[in-house]
Amino acid sequence: MAKCWSATVGDNRLVLAIDIGLSKIDAVIADVGNGSEITVRGSGRSYTTGIEKGKITSQSELVAAIDRALKRAERDIGIRPANAIVSVPNFDFQFGYCTGLMIPKTLGKRLTEEDRLAAVHKSKKSIVTQDNLILHAIPVEYRVDNRVVESPVGINGESLEVTTHYIQADSDNVHALLSVIQTLNLHVAGMVYSPIASAQIFLSEQERIEGALLIDIGAESTSISFYKRNILQSTGTIPIGGNTINRDLSQCLSISDPEAERVKVKYGSLDIQNIEYRDKFELNALGQGWIEIKRQYMCKIIYSRVEELLKLIVKKVGIRPEFPYDIVCCGATTRCAGFEAIAATLTGHIVRVGPPRADAAHHIHADYGTALGLISFGLKTGAIVPHETPLNWLERLNRKLSRWF
Ligand SMILES: Nc1ncnc2c1ncn2[C@@H]1O[C@H](COP(=O)(O)OP(=O)(O)OP(=O)(O)O)[C@@H](O)[C@H]1O
Ligand SMILES: [Mg+2]
Repeated sequence: MAKCWSATVGDNRLVLAIDIGLSKIDAVIADVGNGSEITVRGSGRSYTTGIEKGKITSQSELVAAIDRALKRAERDIGIRPANAIVSVPNFDFQFGYCTGLMIPKTLGKRLTEEDRLAAVHKSKKSIVTQDNLILHAIPVEYRVDNRVVESPVGINGESLEVTTHYIQADSDNVHALLSVIQTLNLHVAGMVYSPIASAQIFLSEQERIEGALLIDIGAESTSISFYKRNILQSTGTIPIGGNTINRDLSQCLSISDPEAERVKVKYGSLDIQNIEYRDKFELNALGQGWIEIKRQYMCKIIYSRVEELLKLIVKKVGIRPEFPYDIVCCGATTRCAGFEAIAATLTGHIVRVGPPRADAAHHIHADYGTALGLISFGLKTGAIVPHETPLNWLERLNRKLSRWF
């Protein structure tokens, strides 16, 4: 990842984001100038361990994996900020809508911010939590005296009703994650559903306001999120991800999962037409050793799974030719050659992979998009407030040396 040094931003307004994906952990340390400009000062990645299909199964292994990513991120800067905003591993999220009705004490008076918050609070109370914790409760619609309004604050009314979109996470998993982060001596500044973070980077502000669909093809599943009016209006998942393709390859080609990952990344393509019929490569088959197979054969297996996934998305969202919103994809599977073309063919729309083309800064760091989005979201919501991180004498010396060499 390209380093981005800024002369104008101070060295000590640092924030830390940790995106805990099911295949990899990304850590980003960034400088935040005046609360809006984010300058990446260090980034690090490690393979995820201690999580099975989203559930934290070994806290010590997860601590070690996060620590590896953090050490890589802090290599250049020599500082580990104390506050971290983290994404919650993709496991058993529950989504839904609930409503809250608030009758102000003085009828017909102007509704205040406190009234708005009271209505949202009431809506949250109606959510059945059982074994879950509410991660986000996003107000998507307000009605004053049964009339839909953009914001109720300042309007005269006798009743205020709010519809809230909620996202719940498995409470055992959240508590295990908290304990993991605390073991690393970090303070949790916020926990975020990762598609909300991704949307900050992969969608432009205009797209988030006017409406856009963000499809994140992750390791074990694909999240589909619809943004409009700068709000996450709806979200859902399909239990197919990049690792599903690996399992298909392992089965069909009799190879181990790591070998499936290797050949998929090295030889995989969705641009089947442009693969020479005679094009072959070697793989290490279980019980057979190194054998040659046709590249087209393997790529057709990948193609079938991606085709199935995209068709399921089209059906779930109801994408038709007149679908008026931008469609944006992210997640490492979208790096497979020919992805944009197959996505366009199956959805019948232009599909963009990655951040908006005009956003040069985000393109530099697109690989760490979700982690960067955590910082952006944390700043917008006030979850992270950048503060001075005092340097000890060793860190100051390190800093000086790194500037000289
Ligand atoms: N060049 C590539 N071509 C195709 N697939 C790839 C490529 N690079 C990585 N992948 C696949 O992408 C998947 C991981 O995607 P990603 O890194 O977006 O997941 P994650 O963020 O760890 O998981 P999640 O967000 O679901 O928790 C793996 O299955 C991996 O095989
Ligand atoms: Mg991810």
